[in-house]
Amino acid sequence: MHRVLLVGAGSIGDRHARCFLSTGRAEVGVCELSDATRESIAGRYDFCGIYTSLDSALQESWDAAVVATPAHTHIPIALELARSGIHLLIEKPLSTSMDRVIDLLSEVDAQGLTAGVGYSHRANPAAYAMKEAIDEKRFGTPLELNVSTGQSFATYRPGYRDVYFADRAQGGGAIQDALTHLLNLGEWFVGPIDRVVADATHQQLEGVTVEDTVHTLARHGTVLARKSKIFAGPLTNILKNVYRHFPRETSCLRLTRKQCGISGA
Ligand SMILES: NC(=O)c1ccc[n+]([C@@H]2O[C@H](COP(=O)([O-])OP(=O)(O)OC[C@H]3O[C@@H](n4cnc5c(N)ncnc54)[C@H](O)[C@@H]3O)[C@@H](O)[C@H]2O)c1
Repeated sequence: MHRVLLVGAGSIGDRHARCFLSTGRAEVGVCELSDATRESIAGRYDFCGIYTSLDSALQESWDAAVVATPAHTHIPIALELARSGIHLLIEKPLSTSMDRVIDLLSEVDAQGLTAGVGYSHRANPAAYAMKEAIDEKRFGTPLELNVSTGQSFATYRPGYRDVYFADRAQGGGAIQDALTHLLNLGEWFVGPIDRVVADATHQQLEGVTVEDTVHTLARHGTVLARKSKIFAGPLTNILKNVYRHFPRETSCLRLTRKQCGISGA
């Protein structure tokens, strides 16, 4: 049995609790500041410990921890856990600034820990199938990468106004909250980004002023990439190149959740 400490038991924290416990190979303890959230999650899962502060949780020993708090708190919490020799899964984005990111990397190295950031699209079977196809050069050498995704927060996350999403300083807005997933996925598919430009604005999502739409152009070595994320409103993508006819010579690989046998959240 692995002993896993979950720090932050909100929307994604609940899913981490459910998934770790469902493996049957982990005991999970939870540390959550909000009384209401802590009491609510404690009623749904069988935790090995429930804590109101990180200090009290660290009185026990843990093999690994998940940092599932808002992004501006990730680095200080992760540093404290790393100093205690605990392996880390830190939710995305890693931070809202570069402050002390180097300190965290140094501590992880010094302690010989494994640490990862929760860019979960890499575990999506459809994305994994695409990665395999690219690596096996099934479509030749990639020249362009186009990624567009949208998500209606009004449906998917109706409480978006009341959580970190509404505040850029806490990791809110489409760039920090969602676009980084696509940039990370793009780097996984076709290598590191050398240059990126973005245009973003608030278009439609009610009750917030943070950007709900973002378009980027990126260069990954020789691959040019275009990525868009919208939380509301129409999206127009215009793409022009001078080496390939559209649409007759366009190849499109689209894998749906259903085709990949994925159901549920
Ligand atoms: N990988 C993904 O696909 C994915 C999906 C959703 C959210 N996230 C990320 O996960 C993080 C959390 O998002 P969320 O949607 O669960 O937010 P949330 O607001 O629903 O939950 C965050 C919880 O952390 C608690 N908290 C804050 N500071 C704390 C501290 N110091 N110690 C203990 N608990 C603390 C809050 O009380 C709250 O319950 C964010 O960084 C977000 O970007 C990732």
